Amino acid sequence: METKITLLIAVLLSFAASPSCASLSFNFYATSCPAAEFMVSNTVRSASSSDPTIPGKLLRLLFHDCFVEGCDASVLLQGNGTERSDPANTSLGGFSVIDSAKRVLEIFCPGVVSCADIVALAARDAVVVAGGPEFQIPTGRRDGRTSDAANVRPNIADTSFTMNEMIKLFNSKGLSLDDLVTLSGAHTIGSAHCNAFSDRFQMDSKGKLTLIDTSLDSRYADELMKKCPSDSSASKTVNNDPETSLAFDNQYYSNLLAHKGLFQSDSILLEDGRTRAKVEALANDQESFFRSWGESFLKLTAIGVKTDDEGEIRRSCSFAN
Ligand code: HEM
Repeated sequence: METKITLLIAVLLSFAASPSCASLSFNFYATSCPAAEFMVSNTVRSASSSDPTIPGKLLRLLFHDCFVEGCDASVLLQGNGTERSDPANTSLGGFSVIDSAKRVLEIFCPGVVSCADIVALAARDAVVVAGGPEFQIPTGRRDGRTSDAANVRPNIADTSFTMNEMIKLFNSKGLSLDDLVTLSGAHTIGSAHCNAFSDRFQMDSKGKLTLIDTSLDSRYADELMKKCPSDSSASKTVNNDPETSLAFDNQYYSNLLAHKGLFQSDSILLEDGRTRAKVEALANDQESFFRSWGESFLKLTAIGVKTDDEGEIRRSCSFAN
């Protein structure tokens, strides 16, 4: 209880200190749709109970929404050349959960709750479902009217990024070095396709894989090669966190210390002197991870939000009105 109150205070304080949040507010739907947040969390809970891969999908969906054009649900728009069609987004999931929540909300509060808010709330709730921290986030985002695949690559981090490239990208979104380390902790849940980390291995002419990235623990690398042989199907996935894949905990940071970061972009958080101390601190203290998570998540969900005439309340999350 005490932890929850401290977390709430920390999050409220960081919200007050964040200039980009000025137009959002807590309980934005208090009079227009009082049960909005309950309806979203209920949808996330029930979808996750029948499919435990849902929390990871919803969390990644938020990241890919907010980094491209801001948190405006542009990632949900369907059609030729939209963000969804970019190769970096073809492995995204969780769209049907957002659509279910929207359907319920349109029955009870037609035209009131934005898809952008649903994406942010669903990711917040996904973390709670997986055992992570619970906190309030402000709402009032409006939905973008456009979505362009060409905006995806320049705004989404690649696993091959150097630390300087990651810092530059995160800074351009108003996120600090600490936010980068904290938000990467999202990789404590969910999974990845084999090709997402195949650059850490080399294949010989007979299709045999060898480890080329020596920052990876060799036994963990063997496990990965067994799970993802060179002829494995394109749909094959492995858990991001080899220890507690369904739990939102600080195990991700312990994995990094044990040289078991799945992506190269995870491993460099330990290798680079600018981020190592934060990795160690979060590995040693789950409460501190949860506190940092609340603060960084709030910043993530405030990136480039649209309000008033800058956006609309979509009737269907997949199409602009
Ligand atoms: C720092 C740079 C980051 C890089 C390079 C990166 C890259 C990736 C890649 C390649 C995957 C695997 C996708 C697949 O093959 O299906 C993945 C999965 C995931 N990422 Fe990240 N990511 C980053 C940061 C983040 C952030 C900031 C979040 C959220 C706050 C996040 C949340 C997730 C989640 C939850 C998954 C699992 C998705 C699932 O289970 O379907 N990532 N990430």
